[in-house]
Amino acid sequence: MTTELSFTHRFEPGADPARPPLLLLHGTGGDEDDLVPLGRTVAPGAALISPRGKVLENGMPRFFRRLAEGVFDEADVRRRAQELADFIAEARGAYGLGAPIALGFSNGANIAAALLFLRPEALAGAALIRAMAPLSEPPAAELGGKPVLILSGAMDPIVPAANAARLAATLERAGARVRHETLPTGHGLSQADVNIVHDWLKSV
Ligand code: MLT
Repeated sequence: MTTELSFTHRFEPGADPARPPLLLLHGTGGDEDDLVPLGRTVAPGAALISPRGKVLENGMPRFFRRLAEGVFDEADVRRRAQELADFIAEARGAYGLGAPIALGFSNGANIAAALLFLRPEALAGAALIRAMAPLSEPPAAELGGKPVLILSGAMDPIVPAANAARLAATLERAGARVRHETLPTGHGLSQADVNIVHDWLKSV
């Protein structure tokens, strides 16, 4: 079931009203279908809202522009985060949803982190898989205990460990309840990520 909104997206209604909706944010080259199976696995019964990033890099959808791998166009990060937050508000109205928990992978995790700093009201929390700090100087946000899970890969060739640690520390200083784990894996999604996100979502 999908209504015409400002982002191409997929919406799957929830069967369990006790579960907050999940906002699924794909990685570079993904689309709105990519993370739906993951969403169903980690949050059975939750409503799923899955937009497609509007930026194209050599034909690959993303949520904001980058100048090189790991080097972001921060003006675009800021603009796209606003645009995505506006879509979330629009989708909440159209589908009658509460504030979602973001589940983002790679570029999707990075825009979710940007939302936390720039439009904190848009999300009830976030699970960020292989995330980086999206802004060199994020504004002072008030995250009021929102739960945030960051899952990094010890052998990730894209995300430097210090960068993920900086993101975790900045979110914590802004008042988020952060859990940061580093798994013995690379940039790709692993079964351990799926299991940890599943259990974390039950606890928040
Ligand atoms: C990004 O561009 O957001 C990060 O480098 C991760 C990626 O999408 O490759």
